[in-house]
Amino acid sequence: MNIVLFGPPGAGKGTQAKELTKHYNIPHISTGDILRANVREGTNLGIKAKEYMDKGELVPDEVLIGIIRDRLQLSDCKDGYMLDGYPRTLPQAEALKEILENINKPLEVVLNIDVPDKELIDRLSGRRTCSCGESYHLMFNPPLDEGTCGACGGKLYQRDDDREDVVRQRLEIYAAKTMPLIDYYNDRGILVNIDGTGSVEDVFKQIRDVLDPYRK
Ligand code: AP5
Ligand code: MG
Ligand code: ZN
Repeated sequence: MNIVLFGPPGAGKGTQAKELTKHYNIPHISTGDILRANVREGTNLGIKAKEYMDKGELVPDEVLIGIIRDRLQLSDCKDGYMLDGYPRTLPQAEALKEILENINKPLEVVLNIDVPDKELIDRLSGRRTCSCGESYHLMFNPPLDEGTCGACGGKLYQRDDDREDVVRQRLEIYAAKTMPLIDYYNDRGILVNIDGTGSVEDVFKQIRDVLDPYRK
């Protein structure tokens, strides 16, 4: 099962991926999570990426293409992969196509999770994140124990880029640079729209209905 989870910041890509990766037993590859791990560890990549991320801007294409090329070679991708947050630009999509041709794992479905801007802002401003990749929402998906991750026991924090001014910038960049990929994948016949406004369970069910036929 070779999938991209697509959608604006706050659409619920990470939330859905957490369940989907268990359900279908394919790795969840989030470029945002990979970059944040590098920021935490203070790698050269992390130091460089942080400058862009804190402003809500995209990290340069060549950096992301390198990350994805390496990640998709790992053995856990042999039965498929679920990309989250990549591709975000036309050059990233073109590079992905070439990488996937070389490893003979062409993309099967791009799930476009659609949520209006107003709701995205509410979701991101109430989000609390764990370094394990789990995310919560103070109102919509509260952690059982305030401040603590139910999955790993880690301490929850608010992402630096979830401040309202940075959120607006991320939404603008999404509209300008990433949204054109909707047409790109629609033209290739592999885009499926998902209504992302329902509950986490509603959205999960819609996605399963789309993906189940691709199960091998
Ligand atoms: P990244 O980490 O990918 O952030 P993003 O795309 O902005 O998406 P988010 O993680 O903010 O949202 P999500 O869709 O995962 O939502 P979530 O499930 O958490 O990227 C961060 C930065 O890294 C970028 O700005 C860029 O700088 C850089 N970067 C990453 N990839 C890059 C690339 N390819 N190229 C260049 N730069 C790159 O949900 C959000 C909230 O809503 C949570 O609180 C959740 O609990 C809640 N929620 C989820 N579903 C529902 C629901 N159905 N109902 C109510 N609440 C819900
Ligand atoms: Mg995410
Ligand atoms: Zn955690």
